[in-house]
Amino acid sequence: MFDSYARNIDYLRVSVTNRCNLRCKYCMPEEGIEDLGHDNILSLEEIAHLVRVAARIGIQKVRLTGGEPLVRRNITKLIADIAQIPKINDIAITTNGMLFADMAEELKAAGLTRVNFSLDSLDEDKFKYITSRGNLSEVVRSISKALELGMVPIKINTVVMKGINDDEILDFVELAQKMPLHIRFIEFMPVGDIPFYKADRVVTVSEIRERIEQKYELYKGANVQGNGPAKSYQIRGGMGSVGFISAMSDHFCGECNRIRMTADGKLRSCLFGKQEFNVKLALQNHASDEIIAELFSKAIREKPNRHHMNEGWGADNKRKMYQIGG
Ligand code: 5AD
Ligand code: SF4
Repeated sequence: MFDSYARNIDYLRVSVTNRCNLRCKYCMPEEGIEDLGHDNILSLEEIAHLVRVAARIGIQKVRLTGGEPLVRRNITKLIADIAQIPKINDIAITTNGMLFADMAEELKAAGLTRVNFSLDSLDEDKFKYITSRGNLSEVVRSISKALELGMVPIKINTVVMKGINDDEILDFVELAQKMPLHIRFIEFMPVGDIPFYKADRVVTVSEIRERIEQKYELYKGANVQGNGPAKSYQIRGGMGSVGFISAMSDHFCGECNRIRMTADGKLRSCLFGKQEFNVKLALQNHASDEIIAELFSKAIREKPNRHHMNEGWGADNKRKMYQIGG
């Protein structure tokens, strides 16, 4: 389905939980977050049903996000149910990789096609510092498992933060050089009211590029398969690629192909928007599939032209990344 700005919206990102087994400093407070409660969260059956309805109005690709999607019980069953929907031809997850290794085979068998890992440091101590409780060796094991199972292309999301991990940019590029991994450097964004975000911790995408180009030659090669906003480059002789995602300094709203659904059943047509459509409520009111399809259509029709993040997230926007799923 096309929105009012002639963008084809065929990609749905579903946050299946707010919860996470890590506490990345820029994302979640150490004490965790308040539980949404059983009654407020969409059941897995409801999610599968909603995806089926979304497929009727043109959604073809689904990504499960969180919080951390793999902490949700029976997630494999949800993937299997979504894989049964004829019009859905791509099911991906974004994970922190802590639990993926031991689940990878069952996830793949259920129909998972691709996986993106969030990984901000290749140094064990620093990884532990950023995530408060992560274990780098588990993530490495997960990435190896994804490689072994051939779940290509495997993407790594790295949020670059000045004074925290910006000294590792070239280490990540080296990883893309040696392995078929697609690193996407993400510009730090002021999402929610997380105190860890500071304007002087931002390293712009052009700065990241400059630092890489002092050592590597980047060139436009074959595009990496996917749905994302990253601008990707090959490195000479490299097996993977590097990409850049800069929601702030170079917004890519014109190519946006997605809508989002939160774990508590709200449709959001823009990551940075405020407008939400309550599909959970519609389900509670036993709305017909037609009415729910109309909610999806409305969310798409009213999808804003672009975000206005540079003018600030806005105190009235209460949601944080773990509530939207990135
Ligand atoms: N700025 C940039 N990226 C962020 N993510 C979470 N919070 C932020 C932020 N403030 C990233 C995560 C994950 C993806 C879904 O979003 O690291 O890779
Ligand atoms: Fe969890 Fe991802 Fe947030 Fe880190 S960034 S706390 S892994 S949801």
